[in-house]
Amino acid sequence: MRKRIVAGNWKMNTSLEEGIALAKSINEEVKASKEDIGVIIAPPFTHLTSVKEVINTERICLAAQNCAAEAKGAYTGEVSASMLKSLGVKAIIIGHSERRAYYGETNEILNKKVKLTLSESLKAIYCCGETLEERESGKLFEIINSQIVDGLFNLSNEEIENVIIAYEPVWAIGTGVTASSDQAQEMHAFIRNLVNQKYGGKIANEVKILYGGSVKPDNASEIFGKEDVDGGLIGGASLKTSDFLSIINA
Ligand code: 13P
Repeated sequence: MRKRIVAGNWKMNTSLEEGIALAKSINEEVKASKEDIGVIIAPPFTHLTSVKEVINTERICLAAQNCAAEAKGAYTGEVSASMLKSLGVKAIIIGHSERRAYYGETNEILNKKVKLTLSESLKAIYCCGETLEERESGKLFEIINSQIVDGLFNLSNEEIENVIIAYEPVWAIGTGVTASSDQAQEMHAFIRNLVNQKYGGKIANEVKILYGGSVKPDNASEIFGKEDVDGGLIGGASLKTSDFLSIINA
């Protein structure tokens, strides 16, 4: 059985004070949740150090939402994977569709970020997902195939074992329209099969594939019930402790 994971991506939300309060309340509630579910939270960069101080990092994995595509140097405003590691971050979300769409991050750039993340012994949470137009034009499998192959498939077997994949259809993010559990399962099975073809059955069977896009307390258990769905990457609902906890307990 693959371990289940629920990850909260706070995006560009909360003041520092609000972020600390949210982290404290999640930390309190997570104590009572099922131990076998992995919990990840990804606050904004500015909150990471303060959030780390108020959570049990044995129970909650601290993640960042992005990192630079270069290791160090004259890249004003960027934050490197090694800097994040030095703060105690254990995982980095790479290639969220908002990064791809608004900041022009290509599969090639994202592959550099994944490699840098893994070279710091951090986990990479690599996101993929198609737009509504891509789905409706029947290109969805082609798009996901290139995001996975170009973003990840030059990794070694040891490296890919430290990647968590998140399938987040762009049309489901923040829209209130979630993929049906069958649509999620279909794509997760497709992704797992790609991993199988490249890395073999053992790695494919172990790789965690999370679903993201309008996961809420009332739809989480149906989506998480599907065979190839190993948990969720949660946006809006991760900003409210009670909703996030209901999703963890789903
Ligand atoms: P929502 O849960 O708000 O749809 O966001 C999903 C997401 O983008 C998580 O990374």
